[in-house]
Amino acid sequence: MTKIQSTNLALLFISLFSFNSFIYAAEISEAEGKKKAALCEGCHGTKGNSKNPQYPSLAGQHATYIEAQLKAFQSGQRANSTMQGMAANLNETDIKNIAAYFSNLSSESAGGDSSLTKKGQDKFAMCAGCHGAKAQGRSNFPKLAGQQPEYLKKQLLNFKNGSRKGGPMNAIVSSLSEQDMNEIAAYLGSL
Ligand code: HEC
Ligand code: HEC
Repeated sequence: MTKIQSTNLALLFISLFSFNSFIYAAEISEAEGKKKAALCEGCHGTKGNSKNPQYPSLAGQHATYIEAQLKAFQSGQRANSTMQGMAANLNETDIKNIAAYFSNLSSESAGGDSSLTKKGQDKFAMCAGCHGAKAQGRSNFPKLAGQQPEYLKKQLLNFKNGSRKGGPMNAIVSSLSEQDMNEIAAYLGSL
């Protein structure tokens, strides 16, 4: 090998190496997400398991759904003054890192009123096509299993009165009574 060839090879190596480190720098980092999430956990619970019925758990929620909701708060498509304020401080990388962090935490069941869960289970049958047989969700369809029942009921009411726009959800809830919502939310919380 001539001297010129080996210099070229060395240069090729250096440029490949720096290209790789560029890619790594742009990778999603759960560790960075965890740092940013410390503030969030004040409401959403340690490791994303909320102990307060007003605040949803984020542990085990799908990253795609978390990202979409944070962007909806940023754009104002989903209105909530607390969360709009929180989301305003996040950039695209923060959102991806935070979503990766929460989605990989294991979720705990919030619990639900056992006198309502059986009826709720029957009524959930019509929801399972999108949210999954065990309410585990996927991608943009949120996981509902183990979520705080009070939070779930509030979201169902918001879809019904139109204050939250949720694609198919607005039409789906139109036939649900408040009692149906209590039962379904209790069942989901109990999972
Ligand atoms: C002061 C309390 C508080 C803090 C701090 C907070 N949140 Fe929230 N968060 C809420 C409330 C309340 C809701 C429900 C809003 C609604 O009713 O639409 C919510 C909803 C959400 C949702 C939607 C969940 C779902 O199931 O649709 C996401 C995602 C979220 N928060 C992420 C975050 C992140 C990320 C942070 C930190 C940067 C954060 N929150 C900080 C109170 C808080
Ligand atoms: C056609 C698919 C589909 C069906 C069927 C469906 N959902 Fe949904 N659901 C969605 C989508 C998509 C979202 C996310 C909406 C958004 O982007 O805000 C959602 C969101 C929700 C949320 C908000 C969760 C959160 O964390 O804030 C609740 C609660 C919910 N659905 C309950 C139900 C219930 C109860 C039923 C049955 C009565 C049902 N869904 C049927 C697609 C569906």
